Amino acid sequence: MRSLLTYENNGSMDVACPWARLVEVARDTPVVRWEMGVGFFSMADVVSVGNHPAVVSANPITHEPMGMGSREPLIPLHLDGDVHRHYRKLIDPLFAPRQVALFEEGFRHLADELIDGFIADGEVDFVAGYAVPLPATMFMQIFGAPMDDLPFFTEMKDRILKAEGLTIEEREAEGRLWGDRLRVRLAEIVAERRAATTQQDDLISKFLSWEVEGDKLSDEDIVNVMHLFVIAGLDTVTSSIGCLIGWLAANPEQRRQLFDDPSLVPHAVEELMRHQSPVNVGGPRWATEDFEVNGVSVKQGDMLLLGWWTANLDPAVFADPLTVDFTREANRHAAFAAGRHRCLGSHLARLELRIAIEQFHRRVSDYSLAPGAEPAYKWEGVRSPVTLPLIFAAR
Ligand code: HEM
Repeated sequence: MRSLLTYENNGSMDVACPWARLVEVARDTPVVRWEMGVGFFSMADVVSVGNHPAVVSANPITHEPMGMGSREPLIPLHLDGDVHRHYRKLIDPLFAPRQVALFEEGFRHLADELIDGFIADGEVDFVAGYAVPLPATMFMQIFGAPMDDLPFFTEMKDRILKAEGLTIEEREAEGRLWGDRLRVRLAEIVAERRAATTQQDDLISKFLSWEVEGDKLSDEDIVNVMHLFVIAGLDTVTSSIGCLIGWLAANPEQRRQLFDDPSLVPHAVEELMRHQSPVNVGGPRWATEDFEVNGVSVKQGDMLLLGWWTANLDPAVFADPLTVDFTREANRHAAFAAGRHRCLGSHLARLELRIAIEQFHRRVSDYSLAPGAEPAYKWEGVRSPVTLPLIFAAR
């Protein structure tokens, strides 16, 4: 339970196959009080807490956030109230469905280029060959940082999120040291972009042009937005592509369903995101006052943990939650969170997941795990295969 509450990967969870345990938690212990606060694991509670006005996402006494390698509140994840709403108004239109649809063609092209690199081999480590480079390259193009920075960003992101064998306190201390290094480079990029004479059409340019209460953002504010986007943009889609294809590779009947009827892919993305829930828990929240939520008492100062992955397997909301059903109706899952801080990149992420599967399925007639392969999964608040050795038949 401590492992679930603190998103420590202390070896007590079967990360490759956690599902039955998660359903038990959602059903039998949906609310758990521990020394730092309260963990919520049912859908009703994570939605209520995620929307509660007395819940904030940086410690109200120290004003420090947790879990992202930052000593400062990152924008917008660690802000609340009017200032959070203001930033969402600035950022949401950049990731609206019509806007992200413009990236579809480029993303398909990128997917094809990567597949060209391994299609003749009949085998691939799908994580290294596709799930990592595909969204990372796309993100860097949209973000607008130099492509040469990708290996450094990826290393910093991995080190910040690393949880294997660390307690929550150790993880936080180490993460901040790596976060400091990331921020030095992000500040350099801001300076380079301010000095540039030509205007670019990318996210960093948008951040530079924003105004809050009539003033442009400071360099530090811009680094606080960039820091969050590097973590959010480089980790989650990779982990999700790995989890979704990992599951399909091990389940031939449902894989066949998608080959036979590719129009099911968007439904498969929703259902597998519900079932796999790669982003397992939200970053910590805190209560600014005593309150009661769905009959549970919360005390001022409590740290609150929201379990998206148990909520997505909550038998009170999803009939037969462990069954993957591409025709499931009313699939209102929380894989992209719920409440004020729900994911603002979800339309982009959904597009990327759909195209990643569609393009791979267009180029191969079938695939499966390589004989004898047992993919290892890591869990750092985000669950992801470390390697995914596949064999496939090219079309
Ligand atoms: C499949 C991929 C993705 C998943 C599963 C996912 C999931 C999530 C979740 C669960 C949260 C809430 C975190 C919390 O409660 O502490 C979140 C927030 C956020 N995500 Fe995503 N995300 C994905 C992709 C992306 C992408 C591609 C971007 C941007 C390029 C992005 C940007 C953000 C931002 C900025 C927030 C903070 C929103 C706020 O605080 O108002 N995400 N995401």
